[in-house]
Amino acid sequence: MDSSSTTRTTSSLAAHSHIAREFSSRFGHSPDILVSSPGRINLIGEHTDYNLGFVLPAAIDKYIHIAIRKRKDKELHFFAADFASSYTGKLGNWEKSSLQWPDFLLGVLKEFDEHGVELFGMDLCFGGDIPSGAGLSSSAAIECGLAQAINELKQLNWPKIELVQLAQAAENRFVGVQCGIMDQFASMFGMKDKAILLDCRNLKYEYIPLALDQYAILLLDSQVKHSLASSEYNVRREQCEMGVKALRKVYPHVNSLRDANRAMIEYTLKDQVPDLVYHRCKYVVEENLRLQVGCEALRRNDLVSFGKKMFASHVGLSKLYEVSCPELDYLVELARLEHSIIGSRMMGGGFGGCTINLIRKPFINEVVERITTAYEQKFAKTPTPIICQLSNGTATVSS
Ligand code: GLA
Repeated sequence: MDSSSTTRTTSSLAAHSHIAREFSSRFGHSPDILVSSPGRINLIGEHTDYNLGFVLPAAIDKYIHIAIRKRKDKELHFFAADFASSYTGKLGNWEKSSLQWPDFLLGVLKEFDEHGVELFGMDLCFGGDIPSGAGLSSSAAIECGLAQAINELKQLNWPKIELVQLAQAAENRFVGVQCGIMDQFASMFGMKDKAILLDCRNLKYEYIPLALDQYAILLLDSQVKHSLASSEYNVRREQCEMGVKALRKVYPHVNSLRDANRAMIEYTLKDQVPDLVYHRCKYVVEENLRLQVGCEALRRNDLVSFGKKMFASHVGLSKLYEVSCPELDYLVELARLEHSIIGSRMMGGGFGGCTINLIRKPFINEVVERITTAYEQKFAKTPTPIICQLSNGTATVSS
C-alpha cells in the first residue's frame, strides 16, 4: 500500500479555490471574502474544558473554506458544496433548520445580531476536507470561519478570543450542545507544529512545540458517526455539576471540578453521590493530572511517556466517563498490540469519531493494514486513516 492510499491529503490551496469556483458558479459572481478554518485534534485532556480544566488541542491541516458575498437585501443564501445542499432564509428569522448544517451559520449570525452588529444579507458557499461526524470539529471550523469573515467584512476588529467566545455561544445557545471552548479556541488559535496548552479557567494559553521527529499523528476514523454525542454530552456535563454541588457543601471554594483534588473525590465525594457521578468526577480530576504530567514529558521531548498517558486517558474515558464505544475500544486495543504505536486513545466528545495514535513513521502502512483487516473482520466497516500535521488557525485567504 503506498502512502497516498493510507492517508487523506488534500492541497488546501486547491481546496479553497475549488470553493471560490463553486461560489461563482452557484451565485454568478465572485465572493467578497474567502476564509479557511481548520479542524482540530486533541492530544490529551478530554471533557475537561467545560470543567474549567486543561486541554491540549492543535489545529490540523484539514479545513472548511467559506466564501461570502454581501447582498443588498436581508436574504441568506447558503450552499454546502460537499452535500450539494442549499438553504434560504432571512436575517432575523432565527429558526433552526431541519437540515442541521445551516444552524452553525445561523447561530453565529444570531450572536452577532444580539451583540448589536448590523448584519447584511449574504450569499455563502462552504466546503472542505474535514470529515463531518468524525470528531474533528468541522462545526467549530464553520463557526470560526464565519465569525472571522463577519469580523473582516464589518471591520469590527474584535480580538480573536471574542470571536472564539461568540462561536462557542452559537453552539451552546443556538445549536444546543453545551460544549466547552476547546474546539473553537483550537480552530482560531492554531499554530503550525505546535499544540496549545489551554487553561480553560482563565483562558491563558501556551504553545508547546511538538517535536514529532520519527513519529506521526495517525487518526483512525472508526466510521461510527457520533450522533448520540450531543444528548449524552449534556448529560455528562450535568453529572459533573452534581459532583461540584456535592463537594461545595464541604469545600465552599470548589466552583468546578478544576478546584477538586483526588482526596476530595475519594474521601468526600464517593460517599455522597451515586457511583456514576463519582466515576465521572474521578475521571475529570485524573485527566487534568495526566495532562499536566504529560505536558512535562513533552517539554522533555519524551514522547514515550506522553503516549502512556494517552493510553491511560482512554481507559478513563471508556470505563469511568463512559463516552467510548466498542469500535473505539477495539481500535485502541489493536493499537496496544503494535510496538510502533506509543500512545492511542479516543478523541473528542466520544461515542464514535476517531482515535488518535502516536506512531513511528516507517511502520504506518503495515500497521494500518493490520488494524484495518482486524477491524473489518469484527465490525464489517473500514476505518479511515488520516495523517495530520499541526497547522495555523482560521485565516482570511482573500478579500
Ligand atoms: C467536544 C466539545 C469540546 C470538548 C470535547 C471533549 O469536542 O465540543 O468542547 O468538551 O468534546 O473533550
